[in-house]
Amino acid sequence: MSPLHVTRTLAEDATDAALRADVLAGLTATPKWLPPKWFYDARGSELFEKITRLPEYYPTRAEREILAARSDEIAAASGARTLVELGSGSSEKTRYLIDALTSLQAYVPVDVSESALVQAGHALIEERPGLEVHALIADFTAPLALPETPGPRMVAFLGGTIGNLLPAERADFLSSVRSLLSPGDSLLLGTDLVKDERVLVLAYNDMLGVTAAFDKNVLAVVNRELGADFDLDAFDHVALWDAEREWIEMRLRSRVAQTVKVPALDLAVHFAAGEDLRTEVSAKFREQGVAAELAKADLELTHWWTDAKGRFALSLSVAR
Ligand SMILES: C[S@@+](CC[C@H](N)C(=O)[O-])C[C@H]1O[C@@H](n2cnc3c(N)ncnc32)[C@H](O)[C@@H]1O
Repeated sequence: MSPLHVTRTLAEDATDAALRADVLAGLTATPKWLPPKWFYDARGSELFEKITRLPEYYPTRAEREILAARSDEIAAASGARTLVELGSGSSEKTRYLIDALTSLQAYVPVDVSESALVQAGHALIEERPGLEVHALIADFTAPLALPETPGPRMVAFLGGTIGNLLPAERADFLSSVRSLLSPGDSLLLGTDLVKDERVLVLAYNDMLGVTAAFDKNVLAVVNRELGADFDLDAFDHVALWDAEREWIEMRLRSRVAQTVKVPALDLAVHFAAGEDLRTEVSAKFREQGVAAELAKADLELTHWWTDAKGRFALSLSVAR
């Protein structure tokens, strides 16, 4: 069995500096916001896994259905010997791809969550003893230095995570993904699709409150890392559909007028009663829009698959 290679491309102090910069920018802005990558400490990653099993949260099941049905086609079209997965989390659905890619030599999961990466990496090297696993603790919105592994390369970005980037961030992200690819390499992209508002809102506001706990976890991260005194019970989790921009917004709404201190930044942040802090957008897509965004990044959409209910899509695009 080959060992698990873990590379941290983000130094601990760079992560700390990035968190400080984001918290300062987001909590002093109007309206207030925080980027979603800070949800994912060990507890946030565990809560996300719980979300994927909730009856309301259809994207994981829909994407798994497509992967179960189409992984052989994906493997034949890509011929990948290296699979790079961005925001890989538990790598649970990825097993369909790994099993189908008969020439696969290396799997490179990339995530900010060290706990998720290490857990998934150890499980994979036990299950697939011949596979080289190079786990990268890295921010996929920053330039990535990938290990030297054999081509062709396929980059997978599953779970609809691309929807967490704002449109301008998506354009930058897709062109930086393109720069990781040589002609003939491919991108496998999971995108959640526009659908009935009630279905969408419930997926981000479940009956058991798991998504609410996930949403509030970002406050716990800021409390722990920057010594802030957010009272998690003084905020309500809210999920809203923005029909014009076709995205869900997760927000934390202050129940009362309150001032939160963030000692590491020497900052006091005032919240009015009912004021929102945006913690995530989750854009929903249509086929034409996805094809156009890929084309702008010089990626040609060659395949588009959806689950039987048409809720979620996986697309394969090729670098020319
Ligand atoms: C919505 S979850 C999807 C997980 C998995 N791909 C799936 O489909 O179930 C997003 C994943 O991306 C990771 N992530 C979020 N922002 C990131 C960033 N900027 N750089 C690297 N990983 C990130 C999270 O830690 C989490 O594992």
